[in-house]
Amino acid sequence: MSLLDSVLPSEPTKKMTMNEPVDSSFTNTTNNLVGKAINRVDGPLKVSGQAPYSAEIYRDNQAYGVLVGAKIAKGHVESIDSSALDDIPGIIKVVTDPKHFLRNPQQGTATKAPTQGASEIFYHGQPIAVVVAETFEAATEGAQAVRVTYKDETEQAALDFAKELSNAHEVNEKEGSDKNAVNGDPEQGLADSPVTIERFYHTPNQTSAAMEPHATLAYWEEDKLILYTSNQMIASCKQQIMDALDLNKDQVQMIAHYVGGGFGSKLGIAPESIAAAIAAKELDRPVLVCMTRPQVMEATVKRSNTRQRIAIGCDEQGVINTLIHDSISSNLPDEGFFEPSALSTHYLYRGENRQVNYQQVDMNQLLSGSMRAPGEAVGMIALECAMDELATQLDIDPIELRRRNEPEKDPSQDIPFSTRQLIACMEQGAERFGWSERNAKPASQLEGDWWIGTGMAASSRGNSLQQSEARATLQVDKSKELGVKAVIETDMTDIGTGSYTVFSQVAADLLGLPIDHIEMKLGDSELPPASGSGGSFGAASSGSSIYLACEQLRDMIAAKVGLYADTIQLGNGYIKQVGTHNPSKTDTAIETVKGQAESLKDKISEKTGLALPKSDTSKYDFDGPKSYALAEVIADYDEQKLSAKGQIKPGKNGKSHRQASFGANFAEVAVHKVTGEIRVKRMTGAFAAGRILNHNTATSQCYGGMVFGIGSALMEEVIHDKRDGRLCNHDLAEYHVPVNADVPQLDVILVEEDDPYTNPMHIKGIGETAISGAAAAIANAVYNAVGVRVYEFPITLDKLL
Ligand code: MOS
Repeated sequence: MSLLDSVLPSEPTKKMTMNEPVDSSFTNTTNNLVGKAINRVDGPLKVSGQAPYSAEIYRDNQAYGVLVGAKIAKGHVESIDSSALDDIPGIIKVVTDPKHFLRNPQQGTATKAPTQGASEIFYHGQPIAVVVAETFEAATEGAQAVRVTYKDETEQAALDFAKELSNAHEVNEKEGSDKNAVNGDPEQGLADSPVTIERFYHTPNQTSAAMEPHATLAYWEEDKLILYTSNQMIASCKQQIMDALDLNKDQVQMIAHYVGGGFGSKLGIAPESIAAAIAAKELDRPVLVCMTRPQVMEATVKRSNTRQRIAIGCDEQGVINTLIHDSISSNLPDEGFFEPSALSTHYLYRGENRQVNYQQVDMNQLLSGSMRAPGEAVGMIALECAMDELATQLDIDPIELRRRNEPEKDPSQDIPFSTRQLIACMEQGAERFGWSERNAKPASQLEGDWWIGTGMAASSRGNSLQQSEARATLQVDKSKELGVKAVIETDMTDIGTGSYTVFSQVAADLLGLPIDHIEMKLGDSELPPASGSGGSFGAASSGSSIYLACEQLRDMIAAKVGLYADTIQLGNGYIKQVGTHNPSKTDTAIETVKGQAESLKDKISEKTGLALPKSDTSKYDFDGPKSYALAEVIADYDEQKLSAKGQIKPGKNGKSHRQASFGANFAEVAVHKVTGEIRVKRMTGAFAAGRILNHNTATSQCYGGMVFGIGSALMEEVIHDKRDGRLCNHDLAEYHVPVNADVPQLDVILVEEDDPYTNPMHIKGIGETAISGAAAAIANAVYNAVGVRVYEFPITLDKLL
C-alpha cells in the first residue's frame, strides 16, 4: 500500500446543491445503459414470488393482529367488551391503547406526531383496537366479536359535502403544497373581457387502490423496534413512528424492500404500524397486522373530493387575460393537507390577471392526503375541460387555443421555465393520433350504435427535488465475471416504479460495470436517508445522490491509479486513460490526496527529522494511455476507503426557474346511443420529462397515468353514506378502477428533452405527468361524441342520458 492510499479520505461525500445549471457526465462511459429500455432487474424475483412483501415476512412465534374499526362517524368509545372472545380458540389479547392508537397518521413529508387519543371518534372505520391471535383467522373472528359501546354524536357529524360547503374556511398555507395567489385584478379582468367562460367542476373522493394492502410485521429486540412495513418514504415514516411512540432514532428500524404500489397512500404510516408495534411490545412477540381491503379504504387515506371554479376571460382570438381557479376540498378537522388543485394553473397559460384560491371543508370522513398527482390530477380536469369549452365557444381548434396562450415566462412569478415543451408534445401527439382528421362538430359521427368522439388536453406536473443521500462501494467479488461489484445503499423505496432498475443503470454507467455487477440495497432505514418515493421526485432526488456517490468513487479510483478523474473512462471493468487533464477542472480526490500526502510527509519529517522526497506528482501527468482492471486496482485496497457517499440538495434553481414536465393526452371514445355506456377506444400521450433513464419504465409510468385518467374520468368514486358516514363501496368490486377490458392499447411518445436545471442527471419527474389532464382529454372526447358537457365526475352513463 502506498502513502497515497493511506491518506485517501475515508468515505468522502460528494455534495451538490442545485443552485445553477450543471453538466451531466453520463458521457464518460462506454456502457450507455442510461436511456435504454432494459427490463426490470427485480422482475424475475417478483414474478417467481421471491421478492417478499411485508405481510410475507415471517418471524418465529409470530402472532396476528386484526384491527377493529369504529362503527360511528363521531363520538366517543364508552367501553370495549371482549368477553365474547373467551370462547374463540387462539385469541391472545385485545390490545387498546388510547394514548398511542392513531386517529389517523399525518401524511407525506410532514413529520409531526400522529394525532393521539382513540377514545374520540372522528370518522367511521377509525381503528380503535387490535385483536391479536395465534392465527389470522382467529384474530378476524375476534375482531368481529368485540362489542364496543359508544357515546354517539353522529347527528352532529359533517357527512354531506354540499351542506358543509357554506362552512368552508381558509386553508393552512404552511401545511399545503400550494398557496393562494393573485396577479392583477382577476374579477375586473373577467368583467372587462369580451369573451368569458365560468364553470364549476366537482370531483369525488378517490382511493389509491394499491394492490398490496398496508401491512406491518413488528417486533422488538430489547428496546429497538423493527418494522417490516409497506411505505413509500422510509426516513419520514420512521420519524412518524419515533414521534408516535416516543422513541429515539436508534430505537426504530423500518424495512420496505418491496412495495406493491402506493399511489400516495403509503407516503405516511398507516394505523396498522402503530397497532403492530404496541401489540408486539405488550405480547413480547412479533405481531403482523395486515389490513383488509375494506380497512385500507376506510382507515388509511383518500384523495379529497373538490369543487372547483374556473373562470377565464379572453379576447375574440382566444388570448387569455384572466384566469381564475378557486378550489374547495375537504379533510378531517384540524388537518393541514388540502388538495392543491391549481398547482399548474399558476403557469400553464398566459394572462396578466390571475387568481388561485383554496378553501377547506371539515368533514367526518377518512383523512384526505396525497394521491396520484395530488393537485394536477383533478385540477387539470377542471382547467382543461374549461379550455376545451372555450375553444368550442370561440370555434378555435383546442390545440390552437393553447398555442395562442403559450407564455414566454411563468406568468405568475415572472421567472423563466427551465424547459417547456408543451407545444412539441401537442404537435407530436397530434401527428401520431391523427388529430388533423378530427371532426370538431359534436354528435356528428355515428358508427353502428356508437357515437364516436375525440378530445385532447394538456398535461403538466411540477418537478421537484428533495434532499437525498446514498453510498456507493466497490468490492472484490469473485462470483462476478469481472471480479468486482458495486454496492449501492440508500433507504429509497421501489414502489413498483422501477427504482432498482434505473438506479442500477445510473451506477453501472458511471462505474463502467455491467448491470448485473450492481447490487442495489434499498428500503432500509439503516441506510443513508433518501427522498423516498413521492411527488415524482424519487428518481431525480435519490438517483442524483447515487450519481454523486458514484462520481466520488470514480474520482477515488482515478486517484488510486494516479490519474485525474477527467482523463479516465470506465468501461467493462476497466479504467482507461483517454485524455489529458483540463486544469480548469478541480479534482477533489487528487487535490485531497496530494494535499494530505504533503502535510503527512511534513509531519513525518518534522517528527523524524528525515527529509522525505517531494510527492510523486509526475504520477498525475499524462505519459501515454494507461489501462487498469478495476478488480486488480481494488484487490489490495482497504475496503473502508472504497466507499463514497453522495448528497443532493434542492437549491436556487427551484426558485429561479419554473420546472415542470409537460405533455398532451389524446383520446377517442365511443358512447352507446341507447345505454350511454362509454368506452375509450384509443389514447395517445406525448410527454417531455427531461432525459429519460429507461424507456420501458418511463413508458410504463405513462401507461399508468393514462389508465388513472380513464379511472377518474369514467369510474372512480368513493361513496360515503350521508347518514352514518360509512364507506359504501369499500372493495375493488364496488370501487371501480379500470381493468384490462376498459383500457385500449395506449400509445406513448417520450419527447426528447434535456434539462440542466433539474439535477445532474437532467431528468424530471414523469410518474404523475400522464395522469394530469388525461381525464379531461376523455371528457372532452365524450363531449365531441355526444355534445354533452358533464361537470360532475366521474362521467357515468346516467349523466349522459
Ligand atoms: Mo405520490 S401521490 O406523491 O405518492
